[in-house]
Amino acid sequence: MATSISAEELREEVRRRYAESALAVAERSAGCGCGGGSCCDDSSATEPFGDGLYDAEQRDELPEAATLASLGCGNPTAVAELREGEVVLDLGSGGGIDVILSAKRVGPAGTAYGLDMTDEMLALAQQNAREAGVTNVHFLKGVIEEIPLPAASVDVVISNCVINLSVDKPAVLMEMARVLKPGGRIGISDVVAEDRLSAAERAARGSYVGCIAGALSKSEYEAGLEAAGFEEVSVEFTHEVADGMHGAIVKAVRR
Ligand SMILES: C[S@@+](CC[C@H](N)C(=O)[O-])C[C@H]1O[C@@H](n2cnc3c(N)ncnc32)[C@H](O)[C@@H]1O
Repeated sequence: MATSISAEELREEVRRRYAESALAVAERSAGCGCGGGSCCDDSSATEPFGDGLYDAEQRDELPEAATLASLGCGNPTAVAELREGEVVLDLGSGGGIDVILSAKRVGPAGTAYGLDMTDEMLALAQQNAREAGVTNVHFLKGVIEEIPLPAASVDVVISNCVINLSVDKPAVLMEMARVLKPGGRIGISDVVAEDRLSAAERAARGSYVGCIAGALSKSEYEAGLEAAGFEEVSVEFTHEVADGMHGAIVKAVRR
């Protein structure tokens, strides 16, 4: 039970699940990720997670394995309005779909970093980036609670269905603020709960590793971002993923 295991054990459970998912994609078998009840409990096409959240034009820009590996709950590159020459960081980059799309948007004068803690995902992302022919990408191994980049070095932080998996969300929000330049922005997709749901009610709606039980509520997200040094904070629900739980777009600007 999530309440009886330590944060380190929970993080290891997340890592194991996404390692399995990366290997499944690499072998071109069914992936698994957010939304499934257990790992490799293959989700149906109607589930609100994965590559269906990207438009056909974006999917055409990507190798098949990158779209197959998509385990997100939104499309952060569509909301972040990336510009030529910018430095973008994707937290929990998985198979690299949003890093590859970002690299194309920022062009050769810009850089797209992907950060992930799972070796198997990093290997898959490197391969997908090679196949996509993008060279302005760097995949970093590490945890999003301790980002391995200097302060004020990034223009835009994006992330797709990862912050809900963090065992220390205040640390993630503080780290985003630290690495962003003043005036830098975030464009994040995540699962977010309605304020009426208690932590126990969120846990009853799905697993932690399946991106449901660990979700912040809308007010918790807003307050956390403000406390970390963000302004113009907005958390907008886009589609329901379980009763009272939504895929959401989270935007804010670093003060
Ligand atoms: C649900 S998948 C999303 C992957 C990708 N963003 C996408 O949209 O397809 C979660 C990813 O986040 C990574 N992850 C989860 N928690 C992490 C943490 N604390 N630090 C770094 N990576 C993490 C996992 O290894 C996995 O690749």
